[in-house]
Amino acid sequence: MIRIDQDTQLEPVAEEMAPVFQRLVSENYAYLAEWLEWPRHCKTREAFSDFISAERRRAQQADGMSFAIIYRGLIVGMISFNAIYADLQRADIGYWLIQSYQGLGIMTRACQAMTEHAFAHLNVSKVQVSVAAENLPSRAVCERLGMQLEGVISHREKVGDRILSHAVYAAFIRDNLV
Ligand SMILES: CC(C)(COP(=O)(O)OP(=O)(O)OC[C@H]1O[C@@H](n2cnc3c(N)ncnc32)[C@H](O)[C@@H]1OP(=O)(O)O)[C@@H](O)C(=O)NCCC(=O)NCCS
Repeated sequence: MIRIDQDTQLEPVAEEMAPVFQRLVSENYAYLAEWLEWPRHCKTREAFSDFISAERRRAQQADGMSFAIIYRGLIVGMISFNAIYADLQRADIGYWLIQSYQGLGIMTRACQAMTEHAFAHLNVSKVQVSVAAENLPSRAVCERLGMQLEGVISHREKVGDRILSHAVYAAFIRDNLV
């Protein structure tokens, strides 16, 4: 568990969370599917159970890990190390929040906590967030944290029928995030 503040903590995903995630993603489908591809392929409770099992295996192998974001006792989203490259000393972060908990700074604080966790415990010196270039709320999370924009890569991801460019942000162990 990573405690962020009195209201907010990150809990490693666990099997009993599968029905909650299934419900949250179903209720927020249009909002999440605008920028994320996986909700199109992860709709049933079984699909979330499989995802959680895979994430727990990845955590054991230090390949990646996913955390439920808990705000005032409720699951409101997820933040993940989508990849941990031990050889490159780099961890990649991805995240989503349900729509009704936007605008409270939850993801900015979660992303800061994950970055600090990575530098303290994962033996990495770089944290990267790759964001659809037009996803301004997500870019704002990175920019609010003072992450560096390393570049924009075209044709990086297909979401639905749109081919998206990505803006790649980075924090380095020597940086002081806000
Ligand atoms: C990307 C996403 C997580 C951003 O959510 P968000 O709520 O804008 O981000 P935060 O939780 O950091 O909140 C920031 C907002 O809270 C406000 N805020 C309030 N208190 C704050 C605090 N203590 N610290 C920082 N911001 C605070 C900020 O001003 C900002 O509001 P604004 O958008 O009106 O300027 C969300 O839009 C989302 O999940 N989208 C769908 C999935 C997605 O795109 N995932 C990312 C893929 S790369």
